[in-house]
Amino acid sequence: MRVLVTGGGGYIGAVLCRQLLEAGHRPVVLDRLFWGRKPLAGLDVEVIRGDLRAFDEAWLTGIDAVCHLAGLSNDPTAEYNTEANWQMNALGTERLVAACAVRGIVRFTFASSASLYDSEISSHDVARSPTMCDETTELSPRGAYSLSKKYAEDVVLRAASDAFAPVIFRQGTVYGYSPRMRFDLVVNTFVKDAILQRRLYVHGGGWMWRPLVDVEDVAAVHVMALSAPLDRIRAQIFNVLEENYQIRQLAMLVAGSLGLLDPPIRVDLREAPLPEFVRNYRMSNAKLSRVLGFTPSRTVLESIQHMLERLPLDRLDEYGDPRHYNIRWMTLLEEFHAEQREFTSIY
Ligand SMILES: NC(=O)c1ccc[n+]([C@@H]2O[C@H](COP(=O)([O-])OP(=O)(O)OC[C@H]3O[C@@H](n4cnc5c(N)ncnc54)[C@H](O)[C@@H]3O)[C@@H](O)[C@H]2O)c1
Repeated sequence: MRVLVTGGGGYIGAVLCRQLLEAGHRPVVLDRLFWGRKPLAGLDVEVIRGDLRAFDEAWLTGIDAVCHLAGLSNDPTAEYNTEANWQMNALGTERLVAACAVRGIVRFTFASSASLYDSEISSHDVARSPTMCDETTELSPRGAYSLSKKYAEDVVLRAASDAFAPVIFRQGTVYGYSPRMRFDLVVNTFVKDAILQRRLYVHGGGWMWRPLVDVEDVAAVHVMALSAPLDRIRAQIFNVLEENYQIRQLAMLVAGSLGLLDPPIRVDLREAPLPEFVRNYRMSNAKLSRVLGFTPSRTVLESIQHMLERLPLDRLDEYGDPRHYNIRWMTLLEEFHAEQREFTSIY
């Protein structure tokens, strides 16, 4: 299949493109290329440099399926410019979905987020285990990012028909190695901090829960949906995670893994105060397993090991590249464009 991968130049997209090629598909990347072309180096993919907000029907010519990943991909970047976030994540998705439905591009996967389940709680309540959310849990999204993802989900579900079988994946926080590395995701941040600072700060004991999943498994779920029976995926929502972990556990897994290197790297764990409000949520992957038979392949522990084998432990300066931190890179590009007095900015 010729598969349009929006956001194919990103952290998940670069891994997804590789997996699509391995599965015999032909990926076509549609991306603003916020992080450049380097993540796609060595992959035989067609690249369209374009912005979802300036939708062009021609992008869909000859396309058999769409994996839709493009957009602002975390809370800080969405809050930095809420209007741009809405244009990209909500309205950009709406336009793309409508065009695919009209053209009869039957298979459409959408990268939504587990942050839809997130409910901010007072730090006094952090010791209480949050309830397990599933795809039927009532949602009350608050931030710009979650609100835009919820709007996009509703648009996707409303458009479903006999000729259009979109599927929504509520992805947990992703970890693991990608050619477009992100160090602003909890496990990856811990690995980077452990290597650079030999110290990890665990806020309030780190009892908060997060659903987590390896980047290879997230990509594999999208690939699998391209051949899954249509009646199992049409207008369905699936949580995508390997397991729920407490932040404290993650810090210990990272510190322990570095301690087992040869020579070992000793990492201190330190307590730090909690902010007034914290995020604390868990979700179930039972539906993904029951309906699609998907079993995640890589635990956090295995993924940390994999990252340690691939990341440069001796070239510490590489971790400072702002491209690895979404909000840092966004603000830098914004300043750059302002200095150049260009009429458009990255937003
Ligand atoms: N990484 C996670 O932990 C995670 C968790 C849940 C959901 N998601 C979702 O998965 C998707 C991919 O996330 P990621 O971690 O790969 O993020 P990423 O920021 O690495 O990649 C996003 C890609 O989209 C492109 N893009 C952004 N706005 C665009 C626009 N208007 N037009 C065209 N291209 C645009 C960027 O250039 C980038 O290459 C996102 O939709 C994100 O919200 C990610």
